Amino acid sequence: KTPIIIDTDPGIDDAAAITVALNDPKIDVQLITTMAGNVPVEKTTKNALNLVEFYRKDVEVARGAAQPLLRNYEDASYYHGESGMDGYEFPHHERKESDLHAVQAMKKVFDKSEEPITLVAIGALTNVALLLMEYPEVKKKIKEMVIMGGSLSSGNVNSAAEFNIYADPHAAKIAFQSEIPIVMAGLDVTLKALLYPTSFEQLPSLGRTGNMLHGLFYHYRGGSPETGLQLHDVCTLFYILYPEKVETKDLFVEVATEGPAIGATIADLHQRQQNQTNTKVCVDIDVDFFNEWFLDSIRTIG
Ligand code: BDR
Ligand code: CA
Repeated sequence: KTPIIIDTDPGIDDAAAITVALNDPKIDVQLITTMAGNVPVEKTTKNALNLVEFYRKDVEVARGAAQPLLRNYEDASYYHGESGMDGYEFPHHERKESDLHAVQAMKKVFDKSEEPITLVAIGALTNVALLLMEYPEVKKKIKEMVIMGGSLSSGNVNSAAEFNIYADPHAAKIAFQSEIPIVMAGLDVTLKALLYPTSFEQLPSLGRTGNMLHGLFYHYRGGSPETGLQLHDVCTLFYILYPEKVETKDLFVEVATEGPAIGATIADLHQRQQNQTNTKVCVDIDVDFFNEWFLDSIRTIG
Protein backbone atom coordinates (compact mmCIF):
# COMPACT_ATOMS: atom_id res chain seq x y z
CA LYS A 1 0.00 0.00 0.00
CA THR A 2 1.19 3.51 -0.80
CA PRO A 3 0.84 5.77 2.25
CA ILE A 4 -0.40 9.25 1.34
CA ILE A 5 -1.50 12.53 2.88
CA ILE A 6 -4.10 14.44 0.88
CA ASP A 7 -3.91 18.24 1.10
CA THR A 8 -7.13 19.46 -0.47
CA ASP A 9 -9.88 22.08 -0.92
CA PRO A 10 -13.01 20.07 -1.80
CA GLY A 11 -14.19 21.01 -4.39
CA ILE A 12 -15.96 18.64 -6.74
CA ASP A 13 -12.94 17.13 -8.49
CA ASP A 14 -11.27 16.91 -5.05
CA ALA A 15 -14.32 14.92 -3.90
CA ALA A 16 -13.80 12.46 -6.75
CA ALA A 17 -10.09 12.15 -5.93
CA ILE A 18 -10.77 11.63 -2.21
CA THR A 19 -13.44 9.04 -3.06
CA VAL A 20 -10.96 7.00 -5.06
CA ALA A 21 -8.15 7.42 -2.52
CA LEU A 22 -10.24 6.39 0.50
CA ASN A 23 -11.40 3.21 -1.20
CA ASP A 24 -8.52 1.97 -3.33
CA PRO A 25 -6.90 -1.13 -1.80
CA LYS A 26 -3.44 -0.01 -2.96
CA ILE A 27 -3.65 3.36 -1.21
CA ASP A 28 -3.46 4.13 2.49
CA VAL A 29 -4.78 7.61 3.34
CA GLN A 30 -3.06 8.62 6.58
CA LEU A 31 -4.48 12.13 6.87
CA ILE A 32 -6.57 14.70 5.02
CA THR A 33 -5.66 18.35 5.44
CA THR A 34 -7.63 21.30 4.10
CA MET A 35 -7.08 24.89 3.11
CA ALA A 36 -8.98 27.84 1.66
CA GLY A 37 -9.22 27.28 -2.07
CA ASN A 38 -12.29 26.52 -4.09
CA VAL A 39 -14.31 27.82 -1.12
CA PRO A 40 -13.27 29.09 2.37
CA VAL A 41 -11.54 26.64 4.70
CA GLU A 42 -14.58 26.15 6.99
CA LYS A 43 -16.41 24.74 3.98
CA THR A 44 -13.56 22.68 2.51
CA THR A 45 -13.08 21.10 5.96
CA LYS A 46 -16.77 20.31 6.29
CA ASN A 47 -16.79 18.80 2.80
CA ALA A 48 -13.79 16.59 3.59
CA LEU A 49 -15.51 15.41 6.79
CA ASN A 50 -18.68 14.66 4.82
CA LEU A 51 -16.71 12.39 2.48
CA VAL A 52 -14.84 10.55 5.24
CA GLU A 53 -18.16 10.01 7.02
CA PHE A 54 -19.87 8.90 3.79
CA TYR A 55 -17.37 6.00 3.68
CA ARG A 56 -17.16 5.55 7.48
CA LYS A 57 -13.37 5.69 7.32
CA ASP A 58 -11.10 6.21 10.27
CA VAL A 59 -9.16 9.06 8.66
CA GLU A 60 -8.43 12.32 10.44
CA VAL A 61 -9.30 15.66 8.81
CA ALA A 62 -7.22 18.64 9.95
CA ARG A 63 -8.01 22.21 9.01
CA GLY A 64 -5.20 24.35 7.63
CA ALA A 65 -4.64 27.75 6.08
CA ALA A 66 -7.55 30.18 5.84
CA GLN A 67 -5.56 32.58 3.64
CA PRO A 68 -2.73 32.40 1.14
CA LEU A 69 0.72 33.37 2.50
CA LEU A 70 0.79 36.85 1.03
CA ARG A 71 -1.92 37.55 -1.49
CA ASN A 72 -5.63 38.01 -1.00
CA TYR A 73 -7.92 35.01 -1.03
CA GLU A 74 -10.10 34.47 -4.14
CA ASP A 75 -12.49 31.52 -4.31
CA ALA A 76 -13.77 29.35 -7.18
CA SER A 77 -17.38 28.90 -6.05
CA TYR A 78 -18.45 29.73 -9.59
CA TYR A 79 -17.16 26.24 -10.54
CA HIS A 80 -17.99 24.24 -7.44
CA GLY A 81 -21.09 25.99 -6.04
CA GLU A 82 -21.61 27.91 -2.78
CA SER A 83 -20.89 24.90 -0.54
CA GLY A 84 -17.92 23.84 -2.69
CA MET A 85 -19.70 20.54 -3.32
CA ASP A 86 -23.15 21.56 -4.57
CA GLY A 87 -25.36 18.86 -6.06
CA TYR A 88 -25.55 16.26 -3.30
CA GLU A 89 -27.04 16.47 0.21
CA PHE A 90 -24.71 14.68 2.59
CA PRO A 91 -26.51 13.39 5.69
CA HIS A 92 -26.00 15.18 9.00
CA HIS A 93 -23.31 13.67 11.25
CA GLU A 94 -21.29 14.42 14.37
CA ARG A 95 -17.80 13.69 13.04
CA LYS A 96 -15.32 16.31 14.25
CA GLU A 97 -12.20 17.74 12.70
CA SER A 98 -8.82 17.25 14.39
CA ASP A 99 -7.81 19.52 17.28
CA LEU A 100 -4.51 20.02 15.48
CA HIS A 101 -3.76 22.52 12.74
CA ALA A 102 -3.09 20.82 9.39
CA VAL A 103 0.65 21.53 9.63
CA GLN A 104 0.92 20.02 13.11
CA ALA A 105 -1.18 17.05 12.06
CA MET A 106 1.09 16.43 9.05
CA LYS A 107 4.19 16.70 11.20
CA LYS A 108 2.75 14.12 13.60
CA VAL A 109 2.04 11.67 10.76
CA PHE A 110 5.55 12.10 9.32
CA ASP A 111 7.13 11.63 12.74
CA LYS A 112 5.20 8.42 13.36
CA SER A 113 5.79 6.86 9.95
CA GLU A 114 8.72 4.58 9.33
CA GLU A 115 8.40 4.75 5.56
CA PRO A 116 8.35 7.86 3.38
CA ILE A 117 4.90 9.23 2.55
CA THR A 118 3.57 10.65 -0.71
CA LEU A 119 2.06 14.11 -0.35
CA VAL A 120 -0.89 14.50 -2.71
CA ALA A 121 -1.43 18.25 -3.04
CA ILE A 122 -4.64 19.10 -4.85
CA GLY A 123 -5.28 22.62 -3.64
CA ALA A 124 -3.26 25.78 -3.06
CA LEU A 125 0.19 24.94 -1.65
CA THR A 126 -0.14 27.10 1.48
CA ASN A 127 -0.10 24.24 4.02
CA VAL A 128 2.79 22.58 2.21
CA ALA A 129 4.85 25.78 2.31
CA LEU A 130 4.06 26.33 6.00
CA LEU A 131 5.08 22.73 6.75
CA LEU A 132 8.37 23.04 4.88
CA MET A 133 9.23 26.34 6.54
CA GLU A 134 8.30 25.25 10.05
CA TYR A 135 9.61 21.68 9.92
CA PRO A 136 12.20 21.37 7.14
CA GLU A 137 13.33 18.06 8.68
CA VAL A 138 10.18 16.34 7.35
CA LYS A 139 11.55 16.64 3.79
CA LYS A 140 13.36 13.35 4.13
CA LYS A 141 10.06 11.68 5.04
CA ILE A 142 8.32 12.90 1.88
CA LYS A 143 8.71 10.34 -0.88
CA GLU A 144 7.37 12.75 -3.47
CA MET A 145 4.78 15.46 -3.90
CA VAL A 146 2.19 14.73 -6.54
CA ILE A 147 0.68 18.11 -7.27
CA MET A 148 -2.39 19.06 -9.26
CA GLY A 149 -1.37 22.51 -10.36
CA GLY A 150 0.34 24.56 -12.97
CA SER A 151 0.50 24.39 -16.72
CA LEU A 152 3.19 24.64 -19.35
CA SER A 153 0.79 25.94 -21.95
CA SER A 154 -2.11 28.15 -20.90
CA GLY A 155 -3.99 28.82 -17.68
CA ASN A 156 -7.54 28.47 -16.42
CA VAL A 157 -7.63 31.64 -14.31
CA ASN A 158 -6.08 33.86 -16.91
CA SER A 159 -4.09 33.00 -20.03
CA ALA A 160 -1.02 32.04 -17.98
CA ALA A 161 -1.97 30.70 -14.55
CA GLU A 162 -3.71 27.60 -13.24
CA PHE A 163 -5.98 28.08 -10.19
CA ASN A 164 -4.07 26.19 -7.45
CA ILE A 165 -0.77 27.91 -8.21
CA TYR A 166 -2.42 31.30 -8.82
CA ALA A 167 -4.23 30.94 -5.47
CA ASP A 168 -0.92 31.01 -3.59
CA PRO A 169 2.08 31.52 -5.88
CA HIS A 170 4.47 32.33 -3.03
CA ALA A 171 3.66 29.00 -1.38
CA ALA A 172 4.02 27.21 -4.70
CA LYS A 173 7.43 28.77 -5.19
CA ILE A 174 8.57 27.36 -1.83
CA ALA A 175 7.28 23.91 -2.82
CA PHE A 176 9.03 23.92 -6.20
CA GLN A 177 12.28 25.11 -4.62
CA SER A 178 12.17 22.46 -1.89
CA GLU A 179 14.24 19.80 -3.70
CA ILE A 180 11.58 17.24 -2.86
CA PRO A 181 10.77 15.15 -5.97
CA ILE A 182 7.70 16.70 -7.60
CA VAL A 183 5.22 15.26 -10.06
CA MET A 184 3.19 18.03 -11.63
CA ALA A 185 -0.20 16.92 -12.92
CA GLY A 186 -1.16 20.29 -14.36
CA LEU A 187 -3.55 21.41 -17.05
CA ASP A 188 -1.29 19.92 -19.76
CA VAL A 189 -2.59 16.53 -18.73
CA THR A 190 -5.76 17.22 -16.74
CA LEU A 191 -7.49 18.95 -19.65
CA LYS A 192 -6.89 15.78 -21.67
CA ALA A 193 -8.14 13.43 -18.95
CA LEU A 194 -11.80 14.33 -19.34
CA LEU A 195 -14.62 12.15 -18.11
CA TYR A 196 -16.39 11.16 -21.31
CA PRO A 197 -20.13 11.96 -21.65
CA THR A 198 -20.77 8.21 -21.97
CA SER A 199 -18.93 7.62 -18.67
CA PHE A 200 -20.90 10.39 -16.96
CA GLU A 201 -24.19 8.81 -18.08
CA GLN A 202 -23.26 5.49 -16.51
CA LEU A 203 -22.60 6.91 -13.04
CA PRO A 204 -26.14 6.66 -11.59
CA SER A 205 -26.23 2.94 -12.36
CA LEU A 206 -23.04 2.30 -10.35
CA GLY A 207 -24.43 2.51 -6.81
CA ARG A 208 -24.42 5.20 -4.10
CA THR A 209 -20.96 6.53 -5.01
CA GLY A 210 -21.90 6.85 -8.68
CA ASN A 211 -25.08 8.55 -7.63
CA MET A 212 -23.28 11.00 -5.35
CA LEU A 213 -20.69 11.87 -8.00
CA HIS A 214 -23.35 12.21 -10.69
CA GLY A 215 -25.11 14.79 -8.49
CA LEU A 216 -21.89 16.74 -7.91
CA PHE A 217 -20.74 16.57 -11.54
CA TYR A 218 -24.13 17.70 -12.75
CA HIS A 219 -23.63 21.00 -10.90
CA TYR A 220 -19.94 21.39 -11.67
CA ARG A 221 -18.79 24.03 -14.15
CA GLY A 222 -15.47 22.40 -15.01
CA GLY A 223 -16.36 21.37 -18.54
CA SER A 224 -19.83 19.99 -19.18
CA PRO A 225 -21.50 16.57 -19.08
CA GLU A 226 -22.08 16.91 -22.84
CA THR A 227 -18.51 17.63 -23.88
CA GLY A 228 -16.50 16.05 -21.04
CA LEU A 229 -15.81 16.89 -17.40
CA GLN A 230 -12.49 18.04 -15.98
CA LEU A 231 -11.43 15.62 -13.26
CA HIS A 232 -8.16 17.52 -12.55
CA ASP A 233 -7.39 16.27 -9.02
CA VAL A 234 -8.20 12.65 -9.87
CA CYS A 235 -5.15 12.60 -12.18
CA THR A 236 -2.82 12.65 -9.14
CA LEU A 237 -4.27 9.37 -7.85
CA PHE A 238 -4.22 7.88 -11.32
CA TYR A 239 -0.53 8.74 -11.62
CA ILE A 240 0.25 7.09 -8.27
CA LEU A 241 -1.58 3.92 -9.35
CA TYR A 242 -0.59 3.79 -13.04
CA PRO A 243 2.54 5.88 -13.65
CA GLU A 244 3.21 3.88 -16.83
CA LYS A 245 -0.02 5.21 -18.37
CA VAL A 246 1.13 8.82 -18.00
CA GLU A 247 3.86 10.40 -20.11
CA THR A 248 6.13 12.77 -18.20
CA LYS A 249 8.99 15.14 -18.98
CA ASP A 250 11.75 15.96 -16.51
CA LEU A 251 12.07 19.72 -16.38
CA PHE A 252 13.11 22.61 -14.15
CA VAL A 253 9.94 24.49 -13.17
CA GLU A 254 9.70 27.89 -11.52
CA VAL A 255 6.72 29.93 -10.35
CA ALA A 256 6.09 33.56 -11.27
CA THR A 257 5.20 35.50 -8.11
CA GLU A 258 4.59 38.93 -9.59
CA GLY A 259 3.45 40.76 -12.68
CA PRO A 260 0.64 39.87 -15.07
CA ALA A 261 1.73 36.22 -15.23
CA ILE A 262 1.61 35.79 -11.44
CA GLY A 263 0.92 32.13 -10.66
CA ALA A 264 2.28 30.83 -13.96
CA THR A 265 4.60 27.82 -13.92
CA ILE A 266 7.55 28.39 -16.23
CA ALA A 267 9.66 25.45 -17.39
CA ASP A 268 13.20 25.59 -18.72
CA LEU A 269 12.13 23.53 -21.75
CA HIS A 270 15.53 23.17 -23.39
CA GLN A 271 17.72 23.32 -20.28
CA ARG A 272 19.21 26.66 -21.27
CA GLN A 273 19.21 28.25 -17.82
CA GLN A 274 19.50 25.23 -15.58
CA ASN A 275 21.42 22.03 -15.78
CA GLN A 276 19.21 20.31 -13.27
CA THR A 277 15.53 19.38 -13.16
CA ASN A 278 13.12 19.56 -10.21
CA THR A 279 9.82 18.28 -11.62
CA LYS A 280 8.30 15.44 -13.59
CA VAL A 281 5.69 17.25 -15.66
CA CYS A 282 2.80 15.08 -16.84
CA VAL A 283 2.17 15.79 -20.51
CA ASP A 284 0.01 12.95 -21.79
CA ILE A 285 -2.28 10.20 -20.52
CA ASP A 286 -4.14 7.16 -21.80
CA VAL A 287 -7.61 8.75 -21.66
CA ASP A 288 -9.58 5.61 -22.58
CA PHE A 289 -7.87 3.66 -19.83
CA PHE A 290 -8.38 6.57 -17.41
CA ASN A 291 -12.16 6.49 -18.06
CA GLU A 292 -12.33 2.70 -17.73
CA TRP A 293 -10.35 2.78 -14.50
CA PHE A 294 -12.48 5.56 -13.02
CA LEU A 295 -15.77 3.78 -13.79
CA ASP A 296 -14.42 0.45 -12.53
CA SER A 297 -13.31 2.08 -9.28
CA ILE A 298 -16.71 3.70 -8.72
CA ARG A 299 -18.50 0.43 -9.54
CA THR A 300 -16.30 -1.50 -7.11
CA ILE A 301 -16.81 1.05 -4.32
CA GLY A 302 -20.55 0.77 -4.89
C1 BDR B 1 -7.78 22.99 -9.73
O1 BDR B 1 -8.49 24.11 -9.22
C2 BDR B 1 -9.55 23.69 -8.43
O2 BDR B 1 -10.71 24.42 -8.74
C3 BDR B 1 -9.74 22.22 -8.70
O3 BDR B 1 -10.22 21.56 -7.54
C4 BDR B 1 -8.37 21.74 -9.08
O4 BDR B 1 -7.62 21.40 -7.94
C5 BDR B 1 -7.88 23.00 -11.24
O5 BDR B 1 -7.25 24.13 -11.76
CA1 CA C 1 -8.66 21.02 -5.75
